[in-house]
Order: sequence, then structure tokens, then C-alpha cells
Amino acid sequence: MIEHQVSEKFKEIFGGEGDIRYYFAPGRVNLIGEHTDYNGGHVFPCALTIGTYGAARKRADKRLRFYSMNFEALGVIESSVENLKPEKEADWTNYPKGVMWAFGEKGMQVEYGMDLLLFGNIPNGSGLSSSASVEVLTGFILRDLFGFEVTNQELALIGQFSENKFNGVNCGIMDQFAIAMGKRDHAIFLDTATLDYRYTPIRLENAKIVISCSNKKRGLGDSKYNERRSECETALAEIQEVCGIQTLGDLTEQQFEQCKNSVKDEVRQRRAKHAVYENQRTIRAVEALNNDDLKLFGELMNASHVSLRDDYEVTGIELDTLVEEAWKIDGVIGSRMTGAGFGGCTVSIVRDEAVDDFIRQVGSAYEKKIGYAADFYVVEVGDGPRRLQLQG
Ligand code: GLA
Repeated sequence: MIEHQVSEKFKEIFGGEGDIRYYFAPGRVNLIGEHTDYNGGHVFPCALTIGTYGAARKRADKRLRFYSMNFEALGVIESSVENLKPEKEADWTNYPKGVMWAFGEKGMQVEYGMDLLLFGNIPNGSGLSSSASVEVLTGFILRDLFGFEVTNQELALIGQFSENKFNGVNCGIMDQFAIAMGKRDHAIFLDTATLDYRYTPIRLENAKIVISCSNKKRGLGDSKYNERRSECETALAEIQEVCGIQTLGDLTEQQFEQCKNSVKDEVRQRRAKHAVYENQRTIRAVEALNNDDLKLFGELMNASHVSLRDDYEVTGIELDTLVEEAWKIDGVIGSRMTGAGFGGCTVSIVRDEAVDDFIRQVGSAYEKKIGYAADFYVVEVGDGPRRLQLQG
């Protein structure tokens, strides 16, 4: 059991005395609705059963001591609740520190320090939101250790706020929301303009969700993520000169076609087109799932990839190869890149009997073309963050 390894390590690194508590927060995968969450559109992610495990103990002083079993070479990284600033040397601890800082900004000052040890079984940099998982986990721990009154939805917003303002990535709300609000065997149909959401059962009879990880590392901060976001903001401002909308998510495809020429630049027009069409695809995909029309759901996933490849231009040869090889296989219902793009992973819905062939064929074609191997994970849809009771 992972929590036992986490417990052993915590005691080895920080000592076994006092009230040590154990926690888990999931990773997430987005099924459809990509790059819509900062455009007031819909997303359709789900939490996974893989994620981040944490062991934490409150301290009587102001010190913070952090240790990650994923980055053991970094050793213990220290800080203090009186010195919550992003620092390059602080490495991954900028995520938990950012959340502590964000709690303070929201009027919940963290007065005492803690010892915190993490272990994640989400592949790092894979696009399954290992950083949002750490953020939500930290918020959940702060609530539990220090008694702050804050809902899971607020934990998601605080996580996003810390990512935006402390870690400098202008991400939307999808990842933190999917993690904080996750529900076993359900995806979350979220309207990012209003934060209205609905759980939709994921009934994949005779099929699995397969994640293909490109192993091309992607750092959101130095990627083109922020650039895409500002391209969309500019396009929105141009459209607003002729049409009274709040967000690109307010437009249907037809409305967009009527006003698209107000966007003066061809590239920007394609970015906005993706945001509008992807949002409508997401609405239609959820409807398809509710009607048990998995075939249509898969076709919409495929169309989402094409749009991300051609109009939004966030895929790249690695993700395109994974998806295009997947499409060749009988038994693949749908396949697309997921997350921010520029590396990371793809999500595919694959019939049970085709999963082995999928991994073999996509794996060997990928390695041949790209020169290194991809990794594959058959994942399950899990619950949101929780405290773990250590047994035995
Ligand atoms: C990243 C961001 C999300 C979202 C996706 C793209 O995962 O953190 O907010 O914008 O990219 O859909």
C-alpha cells in the first residue's frame, strides 16, 4: 500500500512523533473541452484513481519542511510561513507554498508551519495535472490541520489563484475543479463561465480509458499557453466591437461565422474558432454520452484533436503521432490530446479487446517515428481529495 510507504518515509525523514495525518488528491484527465476554460466555455474532465499522496504534521513554530519521494535528490526543502515567496531553488515546493500564500490572501493566514511529505503516482509533466493535484491536496491539508472553513469548490479556486499569481501560469479553473470535485465513475460537465456543473456517469461498458504519455516534457510556464490565452482575449475584444458577448463561449458556430471577420488576424481567427467550436462540441458530446451514443462521443473527441492540431496549434508531432496511430486501430472509439498540449499525453477510449493491440501498435509506431518510447496507462475514474486512515 502506497500510504504505508509514505508513512515509513515520513517517519524516516521527519521523525515519527506526534499526530501525522495522511491524505490523497487525484490527478485528472479531460475527456473533451480543451482550451475552453479560460474562454467561458464548457469542459468535461474527470478525476483519476492515481494522484498525490501526502503525509503532514502541524508544527508549533513557523518552519516549513517539505520532502517529495518523486524528487528525492532534492532532499528536504525548508521555508517558513513568514516567507512565502516564489523562489527558483524552492522547486516543486512553490506549489504548496503558493497555496499557503493564497490562503493568506483570502483572509486565512497560516500561522504555524508543518512537515509535509508527498508522493505522486501521476507521471510528472504528463499533462494529468500533477501540479493542480498538489495544490488541491495542500489546500485540503491546510483545512484539515488548521481548521479553516472552506469548501472543496473554494479549494479549487484558491489552487487556481495560487497557480496564476504565485507560479505565474495563467491557467483556467478546469484542473483544480476536476480534482477538488472529483467523483468516482463520473465526469464533471462544468460551465466555466458560471461554475455550474453536473456529474455525468461514465458508463464505459466493454471499453477503457487509455492514457498515452508522449514523454515529451512540457512546462506550462515556458510554453505557449499564456500566448494562446492572450490571442483569445484579443479576438474576443475584436468580436465585442460588433457583437455584445461576454466570452467566446457565448457564441454558437453560426454566430461566430457571422462575426468572425471582425477578428483582423487570420491566426487569431483560427484560435477563436477553436474556442467556439470546441465548446459546442463539448456540449454535444455530453448529450451524446447521456444518450448512450459512445460512437458520436468518440467522433467528437477526434474532431477536437483535429481542431487543436490545425486551428489552435498546440499538438506537435508527438501528440499527433499518438493520436493518428490510435485512429488506425479497430476498437478505438475516440482519441485526442488532453490538457494544455505541446507534449503531455493523449486520451483514448478503447474497446476492452483492443487495449493490448493498441498499446503494442501505437507504442511501436511511436518509438519508430519519434525515437523514444511512450508510456501507456489504463486509468479509472476516481473520487476527489480525502483524508486516509492508515490501517495496520
Ligand atoms: C491546462 C490548464 C487548464 C486548461 C487546459 C487546456 O491543463 O491548467 O486550465 O486550460 O490546459 O484545456
